[in-house]
Amino acid sequence: MQSMLTRLTRPGLAARTLSRAVHSGTQTASSVAPRVKRAERQLSSEEVYAREERYGAHNYHPLPVALERGEGLYVWDIEGRRYYDFLSAYSAVNQGHCHPRIVAALNAQASKLTITSRAFYNDVLGAYEEYITKLFGYDKVLPMNTGVEGGETACKLARKWAYSVKGIPKYQAKIIFAEGNFWGRTMAAISSSVDPSSYEGFGPFMPGFELVPYNDIPALEKALQDPNVAAFMVEPIQGEAGVVVPDPGYLTTVRELCTKYNVLFIADEVQTGLGRTGRRLAVDHEAVRPDLVVLGKALSGGIYPVSAVLCDDDVMLTIKPGEHGSTYGGNPLACRVAIAALEVLEEENLAENAEKMGNILRAGLNKLPKEIVTTVRGKGLLNAIVIKETKDYDAWRVCLRLRDNGLLAKPTHGDIIRLAPPLVMNEDEISECIDIIQRTILSF
Ligand SMILES: Cc1ncc(COP(=O)(O)O)c(C=O)c1O
Repeated sequence: MQSMLTRLTRPGLAARTLSRAVHSGTQTASSVAPRVKRAERQLSSEEVYAREERYGAHNYHPLPVALERGEGLYVWDIEGRRYYDFLSAYSAVNQGHCHPRIVAALNAQASKLTITSRAFYNDVLGAYEEYITKLFGYDKVLPMNTGVEGGETACKLARKWAYSVKGIPKYQAKIIFAEGNFWGRTMAAISSSVDPSSYEGFGPFMPGFELVPYNDIPALEKALQDPNVAAFMVEPIQGEAGVVVPDPGYLTTVRELCTKYNVLFIADEVQTGLGRTGRRLAVDHEAVRPDLVVLGKALSGGIYPVSAVLCDDDVMLTIKPGEHGSTYGGNPLACRVAIAALEVLEEENLAENAEKMGNILRAGLNKLPKEIVTTVRGKGLLNAIVIKETKDYDAWRVCLRLRDNGLLAKPTHGDIIRLAPPLVMNEDEISECIDIIQRTILSF
């Protein structure tokens, strides 16, 4: 188990080398309060990159492609080229881009009532709460906005439960995480990270967080024996780590151990949930029921930030009025969008489709030359290939050539490419995508 102190001594990630914007305006006295005139002519892709580089924070390193439109499986760049989207906004658009039913729900609610804050009741929140809790089989839901807020909420619930139900001495509660986890960018989320590019330079870190290796049951059991452990928070498949799939039976044993040691099992299903891995939740592959489930991303079909924590009353009701919340959490617009997004997943059988299309995709990927693609892994439509780097190619260059061939994907952790298209693919489309990937790999 690794302490935060040891992390602080590690070398930082080398600074990203991004070229500076080509043109920078010269400031004169008369430009103290410049009037901002918005560009009216269509920019080229190069100009789009340069403008973001010039005016935006450099906290991302996007693949050079400037998108302006999306529909279903496809996105179009500003020069009109069409691409298959194999990232799906990190699994936010499981339902496909701009799903008409979700857009219609958004539009209808947007012109009626968007937000009331939770200072008052609104006529949509309860409908959403009833729908989502019945769908997933939990007593209650706590609505938030982004995935990381969902994770924070789950951690706060676990600490409250630790003190008010489990009886852990005040402020001694620990939460265990798996190494390789990713649950966002807040101070708490990076405090559980083992990735220097997430935490380096941002300390001091949140106390009371500990790590065990992922997919390591003996290490987990040892950690859970500490009576001050409140919860174990884990992704059923580690997404950002590069689609790391645990051994069969891992989640079942996690459930058993959490029950045995009276520790809450928190499943972070922000990326794996909502049909992505071929089941409604990834934990459904082993038919286990976590104590808390965190959802986000596709909970809105990519239309609006919506996240949620689901759990039963013994945990949820430990938080009392005024102890947690969010101005936007549970607003009527978000709730309408989330109901529509969930209905689309259910009524279009997108989990089943993800399972089928994922099997076809992996069968195709497994035929790629092993000298270049050393590993293929995943479940449903959450997949990754590992590229063996040489002086002639690496994952970034493979992604650039995939883009040139009409398919967008992004490397994660250097040599890994995640392949996670929207779940609305059919067999012809997945075959065409496999052809594109094969053609691209064979061109190296
Ligand atoms: C498993 C998991 N949890 C949480 C998050 C954080 O979600 P958000 O970026 O919406 O805060 C992510 C984001 O990629 C994720 O993959």
